[in-house]
Amino acid sequence: MKALVLSGGQGTRLRPLTFTTAKQLIPVGNKPILGYVLDRIADGGIKELGVVIAKETGEDVKRYIKDGSAWDFDNTTYILQEPLGLAHAVKTAEEFLGNDSFIMYLGDNLLGEGVTELLKKFEEESLDAMILLKEVEDPRAFGVAVLDGKGNVVKLIEKPEEPPSDLALVGVYVFSSRVHEAIESIKPSWRGELEITDAIQEMINLGFKVKAEVLNSWWLDTGKKDDILSANAVVLDEFIKAEIHGGFDGKSKITGRVKIGEGTEIINSIIRGPCAIGENCIIENSFIGPYTSVGNGTRISDSAIEYCVILDDVVVENMDRLEESLIGRNARLTRNQGHRAIKLHVGDYTEVEL
Ligand code: TTP
Repeated sequence: MKALVLSGGQGTRLRPLTFTTAKQLIPVGNKPILGYVLDRIADGGIKELGVVIAKETGEDVKRYIKDGSAWDFDNTTYILQEPLGLAHAVKTAEEFLGNDSFIMYLGDNLLGEGVTELLKKFEEESLDAMILLKEVEDPRAFGVAVLDGKGNVVKLIEKPEEPPSDLALVGVYVFSSRVHEAIESIKPSWRGELEITDAIQEMINLGFKVKAEVLNSWWLDTGKKDDILSANAVVLDEFIKAEIHGGFDGKSKITGRVKIGEGTEIINSIIRGPCAIGENCIIENSFIGPYTSVGNGTRISDSAIEYCVILDDVVVENMDRLEESLIGRNARLTRNQGHRAIKLHVGDYTEVEL
């Protein structure tokens, strides 16, 4: 069993952050999303890792994973792909995959449970494809599956206008090598991509054994800003333990589960967990509220912040109340007390909501 992690794509919905970083490397709880993905795969006992990367962000992904030894992978292969769909990614990785079965895990998906059971079931039942499903409120935005009473997948429909079920495809799949046969016979969709839903549908049409499991825990697909904020909140809730390395003065108050990195100073401030503050930050005369992550080297003064993801080397000054915001590296947010006018210097595709 091999693993294929999809860490290419364009990440257009997360611009401007994705102009300078891979979407999968955006941190939640101060750790890249991709890190949680690799933890799950390593916990599943997989030793051979393939990572699909894109031209623009591939080097950053390589710099993060390196040879994969941090997760105990025996070897890590990088596969450069033009982002032409999930099935196209599998096709591009065919040489790496060979005749082996593999788990395909989208590098921007977070799951509340591991993959061990899924892999076991796939092997025990000698399946050709195993997909993971989750009930969603509005299935129209997803690939949707129809099952028979025995967990066999009867039909898959991509973003249906009238959904036949509320079971959406989660970005984790297990395939036998027969998936390559199916991919050979599908054509690009209206959006010009080779769709994995079409490939799985083709496997059903060819009579291969395709089964589904419904996920019991949470699933987060971190495609947009609000998804990153939700993922940050869930990760802080589930994984953050109180751990204080930096220093704080007598006028500061730290409550709840708060992680504070080495070299960070908290001065006359209130920090209320769950929250994670990186290394070498200065937090002064401020309130950092629950569900906030602050990267390394960031300076926050005279501000109140809640439910935000703030990356490295950011400056925040005099912001009365900053909420539900995702702030990229080296950004500078200040409020000039004497002026009512708003002065902006924002990058391409930035969103500002006042
Ligand atoms: P998507 O979120 O569907 O696509 P995207 O990353 O290009 O984002 P956007 O729609 O905002 O432009 O991709 C899901 C995951 O699969 C993500 O981790 C990127 C990866 N991917 C590839 O590796 N190759 C591809 O061809 C595509 C489409 C996605």
